[in-house]
Amino acid sequence: MKILFVSSEATPFAVSGGLAEVAGALPKALKARGEDVRVILPLYECVGDDKRQEMEYLTNYDVPVAWRRQYCGLFKAEANGVIYYLLDNEYYFKRSGLYGYYDDAERFSFFSRAVLETIEHLDGWKPDIIHCNDWQTALIPVYYNCFYRDRPGYDGIRTVFTIHNIQYQGLYGMDILNEVVGLDPADYPIVEYDGLANFMKGAIECCNKVTTVSPTYANEILDPWFSHGLDGILHKNLWKLTGILNGIDTESYDPHTDMAIPYHYSAARKANKKKDKEALEERFGFDHRPDVPIMVLISRLVSHKGLDLITSIVDELLYNTEVRFIILGSGDSSYENYFRGVAERHPDKFRLELGFQPPLARLMYAGADLFLMPSKSEPCGLSQMIALRYGTLPIVRETGGLRDSVTDCGDGQGNGFTFKTYNAHDMLWAITRGIDLYYNDKNTWKAVMDRAMKSDNSWDRSADLYLQMYNEAMM
Ligand code: GLC
Repeated sequence: MKILFVSSEATPFAVSGGLAEVAGALPKALKARGEDVRVILPLYECVGDDKRQEMEYLTNYDVPVAWRRQYCGLFKAEANGVIYYLLDNEYYFKRSGLYGYYDDAERFSFFSRAVLETIEHLDGWKPDIIHCNDWQTALIPVYYNCFYRDRPGYDGIRTVFTIHNIQYQGLYGMDILNEVVGLDPADYPIVEYDGLANFMKGAIECCNKVTTVSPTYANEILDPWFSHGLDGILHKNLWKLTGILNGIDTESYDPHTDMAIPYHYSAARKANKKKDKEALEERFGFDHRPDVPIMVLISRLVSHKGLDLITSIVDELLYNTEVRFIILGSGDSSYENYFRGVAERHPDKFRLELGFQPPLARLMYAGADLFLMPSKSEPCGLSQMIALRYGTLPIVRETGGLRDSVTDCGDGQGNGFTFKTYNAHDMLWAITRGIDLYYNDKNTWKAVMDRAMKSDNSWDRSADLYLQMYNEAMM
């Protein structure tokens, strides 16, 4: 099967979050199953020189953006045996960040249209499936239906749309449909929703399959509490919807080989994890206390990550409990400021490190004992899977992919600690159970850690489900 996997970010070229990890690892897993999968993304300024040197320039062509025509350069690269196409337009993509610009609607209209135009320039390589991800690529199924399905060389292509987070839909005023998106007024209703242009809604209407990144989230988004307004349109297209749990790249995230951590360990030989804990204590200026548990949170500091629960109880926790708590992340200034205050109040127990710092995150996964992720909603979440693999017991709320990957060890089988209700003291109780187990029952702790490290979160588990879904899309 020929699959063109379209993403606004992908490791190892451009990374801002979980989407990039999926766009790096899922194609690799499909390729290993013998499928001909290629990835396509914008050529941003952040693509490093080392990567650029390995890229091959193929050709260039014009891409329509409403009534204008814009330059598009096509580059090819290879990573993990997978072919990557990078689309070059310096006006749109030579910027310091990936998203958050006033003209994002135009930038990703261009990208979506450019992906479809590119198919003509791949020396006869025509995808069976175009797999789109999130709102940045949501216009592709719409454009395909409006402009390409009858064009020679494009017939019979199926489009799949994956929702990684339903909160970000690509919402704009209706006026962009003419001058920016370039649709015929007769087609405006395809993307119109609640009086706005909604790219994600357009994709859901036009694609052959809608998927999301965990079975639980696939159910949740049918409910208005989670759907950010799209439950009606999803109900209408329910026959297209499936949830497939993400995996992690278990080659990259392996405490036995990870070059970002000083001491290597595995499920069979765990002893070195203690030395990583010592390195973590040192990194954050804590004295060495192997007896005191370290809990970490590694996250964007935004509200759906459940940070309100933490701000409600963090003082109670730190005044009453012998635990160390480290937060790594950045986001809303209200949270950043709040946690700065916590650091001042609890200099002996709490640390805040701002920023997106993958190598430091890996040291934290390795050196910590407990991993906190109390999300209000979580489409899948990869961090809890990484924590499991590094033997750091997750404490999660039972939502989305957290519910599908972590089960409470209270039953003697689980791999972490969970709580149901979005309530600060329910979370605190789960944290307390984790800390108690650390102090009072080393044997059970070790057994849970063992189950955590052996949990299968590799893409092997889910790659076949994607293939099955692609096959259904082709029927
Ligand atoms: C988004 C979601 C996250 C998911 C990731 C990859 O970042 O918020 O839950 O794991 O996409 O699918």
